[in-house]
Amino acid sequence: MTQRATAVAHPNIALVKYWGKRDATMNLPATGSLSMTLDVFPTTTTVTVDAALDADTLELDGEERTGTPLDRVARFLDLVRAMAGSTAHARVVTTNAVPTGAGLASSASGFAALAVAAAAAYHLDLSPRELSRLARRGSGSASRSIVPGVAVWHAGDDDETSFAEGTPAPDMAMVIATVEEREKPVSSRVAMVRTAETSPFFPAWVTSTAETLERMVDACAAGDLDLVGRIAETNALRMHALIQSCDPPIRYLTAASLGVLDRVEALRAQGVLAYATIDAGPNVVVLCAPDDAERIAADLADVASTLVARPGPGARLVETIA
Ligand code: PMV
Repeated sequence: MTQRATAVAHPNIALVKYWGKRDATMNLPATGSLSMTLDVFPTTTTVTVDAALDADTLELDGEERTGTPLDRVARFLDLVRAMAGSTAHARVVTTNAVPTGAGLASSASGFAALAVAAAAAYHLDLSPRELSRLARRGSGSASRSIVPGVAVWHAGDDDETSFAEGTPAPDMAMVIATVEEREKPVSSRVAMVRTAETSPFFPAWVTSTAETLERMVDACAAGDLDLVGRIAETNALRMHALIQSCDPPIRYLTAASLGVLDRVEALRAQGVLAYATIDAGPNVVVLCAPDDAERIAADLADVASTLVARPGPGARLVETIA
C-alpha cells in the first residue's frame, strides 16, 4: 500500500473572479469563475501516512507550523480519511515557490497539490473531476489548479456539480508584476464573508458575474484575446470596488498597484494588447499575447518586479513510495 506520495501544482490567476460563497462548509461559490493555471511558482507537497502519529503535522517552507495553517490541513485530511475509511494521521511537507499570502494564490497551488498527494497516499483513485471537487474543499480556487491551462469552475448546484474543467481559449501569457511580497492584511476567506454580509453591492456582483462568465467562456472559445482581456480587467476592478465597499472597508490595492494599472492603460494607448487583473492583494497580473510579454515585462520593470508566465500543467503526482 502506498504510504507516501508527492504532488506538484501551480497557482492559477482568475480572469473571472471567485469572490463569495454560497455554502461555506462545502465551499460552494456564489458564482462560477475562469482562470489560467500558470507554469511558474509551483508548490511541491509530500504526504506520508504514518499510523504511529497521534496527530497530523505540517512543515511549510522548512518551518514546522501549528495553529491555523495546520488546522486547515488537518481538516482537509479528515475529508480524505473519511473517503478512504482510514484513521491514520499524516505528515505533510510542503514548499511554495510563490510568496505565501501575497495575493498570488498560494492556497490554490497548495490545496491542489495536497489533494493529489493525499488522495494517492491514502489510496484513493480519483478522477480529475473528483480531485477538483476535493481540492475545492480546501480552497475554492484550488479546484482550478487541478486543471492545465484555462479552466472554468462551474458554480454547480451541490458538491457533485461544483468542479473545474478545461475550456478552449486563445494562446496567452501573463506578466506578473509584483509590487509587494508581504502577507495580505485580511485573508480572502475573512474578506469574502465580510463582503457578503456587509456590502450592498454583493447581490449585483453575483448576478453580473454569472453573466460575465458566460461572455468570457464565449470570448475564450472565439479566440478573441482583446475581448478576453477587457472582460477580465472589468471583472477584476468590479471585484475590488466590491471589496472596498465592505464595512469596515478592505482595500488590497496600493499606490504601487495603481501605478502599474496606469502603465497598462498607457500601453493600450500605444496600441499594445494588455489588460490587468488583480487578486486579493496588491500585485497586478497583465494579460497579453505571448509575443508581447517580454516587452511588457521590460516596460514595467521600474515599477514592479516582473515575471512572464504561460499556461501551465494541472496538479500531478510526481512520486509514490509504497
Ligand atoms: O480560493 P481562495 O479562498 O484563496 O480565494 C481566491 C480569491 C481570488 O484569488 C481573489 C479570486 C480567484 O478567483 O482566484
